[in-house]
Amino acid sequence: MTRFHLPEDQIPTAWYNVTPDLPEPLQPPLHPATREPVGPDDLAPLFPGALIAQEVAAERWIDIPGPVLDVLRLWRPTPLVRARALEEALGTPARIYYKDESGSPAGSHKPNTAVPQAYYNAAEGVRRLTTETGAGQWGTALSFACTRFGLDCKVYMVRASYDQKPYRRVIMETWGSEVVASPIDDPGHPGSLGLAISDAVRDAAGRDDTHYALGSVLNHVLLHQTIIGLEAKAQLELAGESDGPDVVLGCCGGGSNLGGIALPWVTDSSVRLVAAEPASCPTLTAGRFEYDFGDTAGMTPLLPMYTLGHDFVPPAIHAGGLRYHGDAPIISALVHAGRMEAVAYPQGKTFEAAVQFANTEGKLPAPEAGHVIRAVIDEALAAKELGEERVLLFNFCGHGFLDLAAYDDYLHGRLVDA
Ligand SMILES: Cc1ncc(COP(=O)(O)O)c(C=O)c1O
Repeated sequence: MTRFHLPEDQIPTAWYNVTPDLPEPLQPPLHPATREPVGPDDLAPLFPGALIAQEVAAERWIDIPGPVLDVLRLWRPTPLVRARALEEALGTPARIYYKDESGSPAGSHKPNTAVPQAYYNAAEGVRRLTTETGAGQWGTALSFACTRFGLDCKVYMVRASYDQKPYRRVIMETWGSEVVASPIDDPGHPGSLGLAISDAVRDAAGRDDTHYALGSVLNHVLLHQTIIGLEAKAQLELAGESDGPDVVLGCCGGGSNLGGIALPWVTDSSVRLVAAEPASCPTLTAGRFEYDFGDTAGMTPLLPMYTLGHDFVPPAIHAGGLRYHGDAPIISALVHAGRMEAVAYPQGKTFEAAVQFANTEGKLPAPEAGHVIRAVIDEALAAKELGEERVLLFNFCGHGFLDLAAYDDYLHGRLVDA
């Protein structure tokens, strides 16, 4: 068999909260002015109470509300696929499985958290959300989610992506969102996720009817994404892999899709966890582990994380979703404790892997996904070298149908790595 499907009635009904199972307790976020731990009141202008509670939750399982499950069922459970053609092309004894998150309305894993975030905000009477978007995937996902719960949405899109990816803007506008290029006050600047977060937070903080939604990094975002790994656990059983995977891999921008697939395996020490990131924005492999702001202007709480510095502006690589100076505190804590490994690749090597995947498995990966596919191919080749039957599981976090300008650059020799 190639595809392993969970029936719709076996969709997970609770998210897994890894916090009590981390090797070391998470350090608290600090207030940007006082540098004291932030309390719920500090976060209330930006987030609904339910999400603030999830941010600090100590219990392992948190029920998924029925109206959220009703929306997730439009595309979940997603298939687990055995990449047999890729295995054959590589001549590897490794068995490669991927969770295909590209079939969601937005084409990526991002709606898994956009939907509950829109739901909790609407349930608490909020009428409008603001957010940032890098590649455009998160803004697309939140725009879709806002249509489900009758919310207005304004998206601050990193200018480099706004210029490279006009069709992402068109989808967001089709779903009724307002989209502007960020930074809004400097039209010559390529932008960064950190700057776009500042724009979106400033907007939300200035209006009573508006909250802010973040597509990655925070604990509640990774919590919502664990539905990916929980489904994959049940599907690997269906595939006859009852010993589970040897290695679980994801690309890492802020850490949400990686967390989603990897966190359900944190307590199983026989499973290696691997983050793949861009060499041009090497947060986990070359950053410092310290408190830093989540945005560039220094308006967000200080988070304990690997960071390249909140004023770091990464080169305008095509994997816009991986251009973030920091990383999720949960992912950072796992790397810092030695529970998770990290590798970094220049973008040319990731497009080479993405094109090999497209020519074997048929699917055209988002440039972000090219990073994890590069890591998977390298793992599979290492298994071949050692003659080892490794089971590899990775998250195929999105398709690249709206990233064709990037493929055009790669295929025609215009993609140059610094
Ligand atoms: C398809 C895709 N994959 C990965 C990412 C990186 O984000 P994260 O590390 O939170 O999964 C993004 C971010 O926009 C994305 O759009």
